[in-house]
Amino acid sequence: MPALAGRVAVVTGAAGGIGRAMALALGHAGCQVVLADIEVAALDDALGEIRSQGTTAIGVQGDVRSKEDMEALCHQAHARFGPIDIVCLNAGVSPSGAVLETSEETWRWLIDVNLMGVVHGLRAFVPGLVERKSGHVVITGSVAGLVPTPSLGPYSAVKHALTALAEVLRTELDGTGVHVSLICPGVVQTGIAESERNRPPDYPGPSHADPELAQRYREAVAASTTSPAHVAAAVIDALLENRFLVLPSPEGPPMIDQRLKELQSAIGS
Ligand SMILES: NC(=O)c1ccc[n+]([C@@H]2O[C@H](COP(=O)([O-])OP(=O)(O)OC[C@H]3O[C@@H](n4cnc5c(N)ncnc54)[C@H](O)[C@@H]3O)[C@@H](O)[C@H]2O)c1
Repeated sequence: MPALAGRVAVVTGAAGGIGRAMALALGHAGCQVVLADIEVAALDDALGEIRSQGTTAIGVQGDVRSKEDMEALCHQAHARFGPIDIVCLNAGVSPSGAVLETSEETWRWLIDVNLMGVVHGLRAFVPGLVERKSGHVVITGSVAGLVPTPSLGPYSAVKHALTALAEVLRTELDGTGVHVSLICPGVVQTGIAESERNRPPDYPGPSHADPELAQRYREAVAASTTSPAHVAAAVIDALLENRFLVLPSPEGPPMIDQRLKELQSAIGS
């Protein structure tokens, strides 16, 4: 996709963190932006901020777990701005804890938001992009989707599923004019360690299986020197250069390198 000015972009999870920074960066690059999120007050705040930088934007309250909400988001975006060019499927949650200590409810919440949320988004938006033979899908994965991450085992497993999904989608869309990018940040200073704030009551129980581990996770996120704006700038570059894999955090490449060495040694054994 060449220049971004005048394009229509939709971002899920746009009320905070990486999604909000992506929405702001897309607006700064000249896009008209649809911000979608489940958190109403934060969404209004984000909308105020993006409009104050001169971007034409609307906010749509919606839950990525809902197929109907994602279809409604697509219709509302189209009704307001016309054909959509860029879809950033970014909303996500991150419970921590050991695999066997993670409750079934937490597993379901995680899968419903982080995996099915993306699937619903793809099903709602991608057919329209393919029909117009143009567009870009951005999926927010994680370094934890490339390197198994202890203490975030269930999250890491679901992010690995997103990696596979994004790679297969890229192959399936080859030649259609629709491009795919997979953003794999390391630890970024956002509200991710507090994602239980968005946990609906249909999944009873705590989000973090081990309070001590949860505290360490919060501290790591708070101490991260990677800003959401830095990740968003990498997303803009990926859109401009049609790049698939985006690794915006310094800790990503050495972790992947170590993982590749482990796999290589398994091949040799
Ligand atoms: N922060 C990190 O360290 C990090 C690292 C790698 C990947 N990621 C990924 O980045 C993405 C964004 O997370 P973030 O770090 O900005 O966290 P965040 O909590 O700051 O932002 C997540 C946003 O998603 C929204 N959201 C949550 N559940 C939703 C639902 N059911 N429907 C609609 N919106 C929902 C939240 O309201 C919030 O605005 C996630 O997919 C996360 O897994 C984050």
